[in-house]
Amino acid sequence: MPACSIFVATFLEIMVNIDLAKMQQIADALADEGWFAQPDFLTEELASALLNITRQNRDSDAFRRAGIGTGTSFQLNREIRGDSIYWISRHPQEKALIQWVELMNQVREGINKELFLGLRDLEMHMAIYPPGTHYQRHLDQFNDRSNRVLSVVLYLTPDWQAGMGGELVIYRNPKEPVIVEPKAGTFVCFLSDQIEHEVLTTHIERYSITGWMLRKPIGLGFL
Ligand code: OGA
Ligand code: MN
Repeated sequence: MPACSIFVATFLEIMVNIDLAKMQQIADALADEGWFAQPDFLTEELASALLNITRQNRDSDAFRRAGIGTGTSFQLNREIRGDSIYWISRHPQEKALIQWVELMNQVREGINKELFLGLRDLEMHMAIYPPGTHYQRHLDQFNDRSNRVLSVVLYLTPDWQAGMGGELVIYRNPKEPVIVEPKAGTFVCFLSDQIEHEVLTTHIERYSITGWMLRKPIGLGFL
């Protein structure tokens, strides 16, 4: 096969598309409620490929304990959050990660078209919560950094069942918190400066990819 055909064939194999109806659903939910959640957002094949990459990175010691705050206010505190993270490259090599980054960029552009949020960039990390860890109730916008507009989370925990813990609690209405089960393939997004949320203590190793859609491209400074 000539080189250009190989390129086209590889490109077609990697291409993924968010359907327009789903895009509309996400935009409507964000406009009305400030959050959106959907199980089976991905094929099982893509979710398990992403889980395999997460586990490979864990096994090659690429994960680091997550902290809170930025710059000089950065601190590690297991009472607040107990996960370890691995930042995903802007141009990943693995097919499954290329597809996930591509899907999130399509969602970003779709939201910009529908809601005029002016989301100009995306940052994402893999996260692993070991058994016994949690993330206290919080907002995703740091005090000294208002660049995060939309938080996006994809769960990768295989065979999650009730009782295993690690649920996400969304406090859109503090009197009626909503529980999201962290099952592989479930996708959640919410407005970073408005929706307080919490990760309940997990009893098994909990895997996810978490990211933020940003008002300004990374590298143009905070604020
Ligand atoms: C975070 C976070 C939620 C989750 O990383 O800021 O709140 O369900 N994650 O993993
Ligand atoms: Mn958060």
